[in-house]
Amino acid sequence: MHTSINSILLFLILFTKYAVCYAPGERFELVAAIIANKLYFCAGVKTDFTPQNDLFYIDLNQQFDASDPPFQFQNNITSTHDGSAVVHESKIVIFGGGLTNRIIIIDEPSGLSKIISSDNSSAWPSPRRFPTA
Ligand SMILES: *[C@@H]1O[C@H](CO)[C@@H](O)[C@H](O)[C@H]1NC(C)=O
Ligand SMILES: *[C@@H]1O[C@H](CO)[C@@H](O)[C@H](O)[C@H]1NC(C)=O
Repeated sequence: MHTSINSILLFLILFTKYAVCYAPGERFELVAAIIANKLYFCAGVKTDFTPQNDLFYIDLNQQFDASDPPFQFQNNITSTHDGSAVVHESKIVIFGGGLTNRIIIIDEPSGLSKIISSDNSSAWPSPRRFPTA
């Protein structure tokens, strides 16, 4: 009996440590935002310059080893890099980046994203990289 309970506990510990955590890999030009003690990371570019499209986070309510952060995958979003982000009503709003002037709105609880495109209207700011929020 003890053996099976121990086996279940070991499985849960291993599952929590290795199966649930997400390994985003090295990348740059990703956009970050904090909502309700979760530090979100949006997409970015891999070191081999492959654009990414994932949304993942670290739950800052828990203690963790900074050398092995417990990243959690949230959802796939529109590929984005070198934009800037603000948070408004539990939504991450990303402007620009990747030489675009589009706005990407990510709903935090669902991780669903939508794009508001400018269609390059002259009424919008020009396409840009590294805009400030
Ligand atoms: C997210 O996208 C990756 C490829 O970019 C794919 O392998 C994975 O299955 C997708 N996951 C979800 C939940 O859509
Ligand atoms: C907007 O401009 C960018 C950069 O000049 C271009 O790559 C893109 O195709 C344009 N988008 C539309 C909808 O015209």
